[in-house]
Amino acid sequence: MRLTLNVDHIATLRNARGEEQPDPVTAALIAEQAGVDGIVVHLREDRRHINERDVRLLRELITTKLDFEMAAVEEIIRIACDVGPELATIVPEKRQELTTEGGINVIDNILLLKDTIKDLHESEIEVSLFVEPDLNHIDAAAEIGADFIELHTGVFANALSEEEQFDELERIRIASKHAKKLGLGVNAGHGLNYQNIKIFRELTDIDEVSIGQSIIARAVIVGIKEAVQEMIRLLRK
Ligand code: PXP
Repeated sequence: MRLTLNVDHIATLRNARGEEQPDPVTAALIAEQAGVDGIVVHLREDRRHINERDVRLLRELITTKLDFEMAAVEEIIRIACDVGPELATIVPEKRQELTTEGGINVIDNILLLKDTIKDLHESEIEVSLFVEPDLNHIDAAAEIGADFIELHTGVFANALSEEEQFDELERIRIASKHAKKLGLGVNAGHGLNYQNIKIFRELTDIDEVSIGQSIIARAVIVGIKEAVQEMIRLLRK
């Protein structure tokens, strides 16, 4: 399982006092040296953490891959096509949410998503759709030409009992196998941490996990290099 690191929260800390430090670009470069397979940023419409300067500098400086999380809205699609990340991950975005709350409803937004995928493909950007582990949405994602899906793992991560956690893990296992059969690449993320990754890593159809909060929180205590390497050791066990 590959690991990509979401550095949004480094920017959250920087923006809290309107300062220039800590810099998410510096954090990303240290994370690459520590072994991550890619850097993820979410340029939100309200610019609450990552800004355009971060995205453009990351594009110039990182040597792994840039996964650009985005809402399917005109302004952000234009920026994505201009910046040219390797991957654009389309997520639903609500102004009031603290973080992305769940997968996108592919079926209800099929025409918008189809057009967005077409625009991104014309700029040679591969596209991932952030979805719930639901076979109907995965079928729809494949139908409109997505290259990847990212399975929402928030329900698994927030499960209150072992039984609930196991059930959700099964849903994710079935969804990932189904997506693979359709020829989609399979990523996963949200709420994954140093504890729950130990059972999550058993899912062999997941190619890559995207982790932010838990690694950045650990990095504040032990540094980015150590926090990233601890997670990589768990993933590769
Ligand atoms: N994947 C997506 C699509 C997300 O929106 C987020 C949160 O920004 C993550 C993964 C990472 O989640 P977490 O910060 O809980 O690790």
